[in-house]
Amino acid sequence: MQHVKQATNELVLSDQQLLFIGKTFAHQLDFALNGCAGQTLQVFPTFIDQIPQGTERGHFLALDLGGTNFRVLYIRLEGDRQSWLINQTYSVSQQLMKGRGEDLFDYIASCLFNFVKENGLLNIKLKLGFTFSFPCKQTSRNQAVLTHWTKNFQVSGVVSRDIGEMLKCSIAKYENLDIEVAAILNDTTGTLISCAYQEPDCRMGVIIGTGVNICYMESHCLDKEMIINTEIGAFGSANHCLDFIRTRWDKQLDEGSLNVGQQLFEKMVSGMYLGEIVRTIVVDLMKAGILSSQVFGAFTARNSFTTSNISCIELDSPTSASFTHTKSVFESMQISQASVDDCASLHLICSRVSARSAHLVSAVIAALLNRMARRQTVIGVDGSVYRCHPHYKTIVNDKVGTLLPLYDSDDNSALVKHFRLMLSEDGSGRGAALIASLSARPTYQGVQCEDCSRLGQIECPTCVATA
Ligand code: BGC
Repeated sequence: MQHVKQATNELVLSDQQLLFIGKTFAHQLDFALNGCAGQTLQVFPTFIDQIPQGTERGHFLALDLGGTNFRVLYIRLEGDRQSWLINQTYSVSQQLMKGRGEDLFDYIASCLFNFVKENGLLNIKLKLGFTFSFPCKQTSRNQAVLTHWTKNFQVSGVVSRDIGEMLKCSIAKYENLDIEVAAILNDTTGTLISCAYQEPDCRMGVIIGTGVNICYMESHCLDKEMIINTEIGAFGSANHCLDFIRTRWDKQLDEGSLNVGQQLFEKMVSGMYLGEIVRTIVVDLMKAGILSSQVFGAFTARNSFTTSNISCIELDSPTSASFTHTKSVFESMQISQASVDDCASLHLICSRVSARSAHLVSAVIAALLNRMARRQTVIGVDGSVYRCHPHYKTIVNDKVGTLLPLYDSDDNSALVKHFRLMLSEDGSGRGAALIASLSARPTYQGVQCEDCSRLGQIECPTCVATA
């Protein structure tokens, strides 16, 4: 165990290192916002320049694509910071994730058609918000050009094309779909906006799931306030500014990935990679004779250890006498002979990898809070890592609390910046509806409703609008 501790020390980042990372990020952000030549961070203005008032009303459709599943939602904003939704999840096959763009968008439109039909919404004019969680350069709220794929997507014929246009083309193949693509948004934007619907002080949206990303409300973009998508997952990729903390395990993981040299911050932080980092470390320590190959032999198979295994293992205390959860993970990998020391070693590697992830996210959050210089900021957060890991939230909360005052002393600023992390409830869906609603209010004029009962559990939008 002592050897494991020593061998993994480089995963532990000091506050000074984190502060340096935050300041490097802040500097690159400034550069990017000012459109300076040679920028190393590509950030995207979203054209969303207002926070919802909480009074928004109406009925909307939303699509949510970004991880392993795809969802279609119908959302009713009720005007008093309340909303109501139904949603249906559809799987996205590996074939679609690596196939042709047209097939992916046709599949999306076919799911949308089935959903609309099943819920009695055919021929009703509805606005739609599309949460598309990949890096896109926006030119308006409903025009977004994909710059590159991330996570496990590599669909051909979509990079450099307008996502809104591609979706419209596939929807147009269905005569009975009367849908206007009103907004294309990132999941972080959806998270920020949906949390702001409930908490007017919300100005930041964070996702720590399969991928990682952060958006925030910038006061000086194109001379006004605007939500900026930082695409933080790519931080460190263009100029190697994070190489001083990247370990040989990070480099190995990158070399075996779909997108070598890209998304280097994401590869140290997000759920798609954390389990694989732990596995890579275990195999390395096994080769070095620090861990027993009789016990850890099963770790040699790629992707045999998952990020959800980390969350389960960390339910045990590091000083546990029994390591019940850790043992159950070993058993699920057909390993029955793990000793308490083996459990403690694996637990230590998991907690160091997940704490490094949470600390890196905290460094960027603190840098943004410092930049925004607000007295009170609510931060909307979502994503499977944040939701499922037993201590992630506490680690982020504590580390941001430690790092933020370090900026204050540095800047000689007397302003105390309070913050609160808020778990987002279905930001991708509600956020998409809210942004579609912000784009134009009157939505249902001219729709004829002959028989509301055909709408099943969904009230007819026309009747509601004219009630
Ligand atoms: C994407 C971001 C997205 C994040 C979280 C990253 O891989 O580049 O656009 O917000 O994942 O889903």
